[in-house]
Amino acid sequence: MDVYQCIRSRRTVREFKPDPVPEDVILKILQAARWAPSSSNTQAWHFIVIQDRNTLTTLGEICSQGRFIGQAPMAIAIVMENAPRPQLDAGRALQQMELMAWSQGVGTCFAGVRDPAQQVAVKELLGIAEEMELITVLPFGYPAEGPRKKGTPRKPMEEIAHRERFGQPYR
Ligand SMILES: Cc1cc2nc3c(=O)[nH]c(=O)nc-3n(C[C@H](O)[C@H](O)[C@H](O)COP(=O)(O)O)c2cc1C
Repeated sequence: MDVYQCIRSRRTVREFKPDPVPEDVILKILQAARWAPSSSNTQAWHFIVIQDRNTLTTLGEICSQGRFIGQAPMAIAIVMENAPRPQLDAGRALQQMELMAWSQGVGTCFAGVRDPAQQVAVKELLGIAEEMELITVLPFGYPAEGPRKKGTPRKPMEEIAHRERFGQPYR
């Protein structure tokens, strides 16, 4: 799949088949993260691969914005350690993971874990040190078959792209 096709066809997936994600695909997803760019090449990230059914179920119970984690066959928690720009670096890595997964037929959904109590609970469950920054828990799996949902629209190009100066139409 070429890069544009991958970017253009990717959609967030919140319903997964129970089929496991093969180990070689998991490794490709991790390599995609590992080769992401980071601020001053700090690479201050950690990726926790979770396949234990009980842990996945508990994560789905904890994460109010990501109940679907409980149905996924696998999840990867992204944690930053002393990163100068944690959100940016993690964002670069997780987008690469998402696209690599999609190119292999595997979907995911960014599950926000912003509630402080949920953050503590996830960190305790996964053995993550308090001072580390938990960015997200990404569930991965093959998209469940079902009626196709309406796509997520995008703003028209005219609304977001400018030429030379803000407000001048790009085209
Ligand atoms: C930073 C960020 C946080 C998000 N948080 C959640 C979330 O907590 N729960 C959820 O179901 N989807 C979440 N999403 C998924 C978005 O709702 C989704 O990407 C958006 O609606 C566009 O749909 P698409 O990815 O299918 O193009 C998040 C996406 C991003 C980029």
